[in-house]
Amino acid sequence: MNYEEFIDLLQKRRSVRRYKPDPVPREALEKILEACRYTPSAGNSQPWEFILVQDPETKKGLSKRIALEIREEVKKDPDIARGIAVQPFLYTAPVLIVVCGDRRLKEAYPAWMDRYALLRQSLSNCILSIQLAAACFGLATAWATIQSGPTEKVVRDMLGIPEAFTVDHIIPVGYPDEEAEDKQSTLRTVKERARFSRDLKDILHKEHYDPAKFRSDEDIKAFLRERTITRIPKT
Ligand SMILES: Cc1cc2nc3c(=O)[nH]c(=O)nc-3n(C[C@H](O)[C@H](O)[C@H](O)COP(=O)(O)O)c2cc1C
Repeated sequence: MNYEEFIDLLQKRRSVRRYKPDPVPREALEKILEACRYTPSAGNSQPWEFILVQDPETKKGLSKRIALEIREEVKKDPDIARGIAVQPFLYTAPVLIVVCGDRRLKEAYPAWMDRYALLRQSLSNCILSIQLAAACFGLATAWATIQSGPTEKVVRDMLGIPEAFTVDHIIPVGYPDEEAEDKQSTLRTVKERARFSRDLKDILHKEHYDPAKFRSDEDIKAFLRERTITRIPKT
């Protein structure tokens, strides 16, 4: 693979939050999960295990219960765009990959480090592998963050996941339904914002940190509101 093909794959991957009902071919799914095995992890701890959820009733139940929990949380932080926070897209995907991490493996990392962060970074790497592998098959994915709090409990209880595991994210997999995404006004905004990548000149420092590039608190506030997808004007 050359650089252009690599960049092409990176650009092909984008979060999709509406899916066609067409099933994901079993072989593609197996290959997507196989790709995880080659993901780097802190200390080679490989903390990941996956639960594949394809049963429509389980998917619906999960989405509904997660949405209910998040709705309660959003009340405490009303600034969060509801359309995103309720993860409504989960039930539309033919396959959900629930990514769990065995917390006991954090012992693989030195005690003076943030071991939990290392565990979660390893899980995130593996999710990117899932996303890139899926993109190779023309399949779309997204992240639904579950970690911590009531949503994690819901997923743990429903799927019988042992306490030893953290349940960080659910990754839906399926063929993108662009039309359905475009029809949903919140998702349109999200799509536009997600396409925005900060310029290299703004994020690159040479030899030492360039103070001229340090963003003020006001800049950060504006960025959070205007560029991220979570704090967007409610529609
Ligand atoms: C750690 C992490 C957590 C994320 N959690 C969510 C989530 O809970 N819900 C969601 O809709 N997107 C989530 N995303 C997706 C990001 O919003 C998305 O990657 C970003 O807006 C860029 O858009 P793109 O993936 O289409 O390039 C998450 C991404 C990462 C890396």
